[in-house]
Amino acid sequence: MDNFLALVKKRRSIRAYREKTIPEEIIDYILEAGRLAPSSENLQPWKFYVVRNKSTIFKLSKAAPLKLNRYLKFIASADTIIVLVAEKKPVHWIAKLIGKDYHELDVMIAGEHMVLAATDKNIGSCWIGWFSEKKVKRILNLNPAQKPIAMIALGYPQEEKEEVKNRLSKNKVVVFIGDKND
Ligand SMILES: Cc1cc2nc3c(=O)[nH]c(=O)nc-3n(C[C@H](O)[C@H](O)[C@H](O)COP(=O)(O)O)c2cc1C
Repeated sequence: MDNFLALVKKRRSIRAYREKTIPEEIIDYILEAGRLAPSSENLQPWKFYVVRNKSTIFKLSKAAPLKLNRYLKFIASADTIIVLVAEKKPVHWIAKLIGKDYHELDVMIAGEHMVLAATDKNIGSCWIGWFSEKKVKRILNLNPAQKPIAMIALGYPQEEKEEVKNRLSKNKVVVFIGDKND
């Protein structure tokens, strides 16, 4: 368990990458961590688009919303970009009844598995949410039932970062109800 928390602390958003190719077996390792993620009703409502060619990566780096390209520019130097795509699947009637749609959250869980797997292999990563859904759909030629939820940029880190520290304190985010001996 200590090892796991050390991995969680080691993961930082890396936004500058070295010009070094990530071996295919590491990409497979990262994808496998995503594939094995849990999902509501085990629907696995996802597809992971793996972009490794420079020209498509460059196009994605220009897929910012409005004219906010400067926030997305850095992904052009990534070795690989994984675009996390949600696919609509029919849900159980109970899920329908209570109005819960976990498709997008399921995709994000798979993404976090991948980000941690990357960290485990010393690969830098950054979650990307600030992109134009429409532009990414067009670049990847997605069908209307597919929705790009987030992207993960991957590459060997060019920047050193200290481990995660800048988080709200435990007493601000954890609420214990009662106590074990009540
Ligand atoms: C869902 C999600 C979307 C994010 N989108 C972006 C983004 O578009 N661009 C970016 O540079 N960082 C993005 N980030 C990274 C966050 O800014 C970063 O995780 C946060 O500041 C904490 O820093 P750390 O990851 O180094 O611990 C995103 C993170 C998450 C979880």
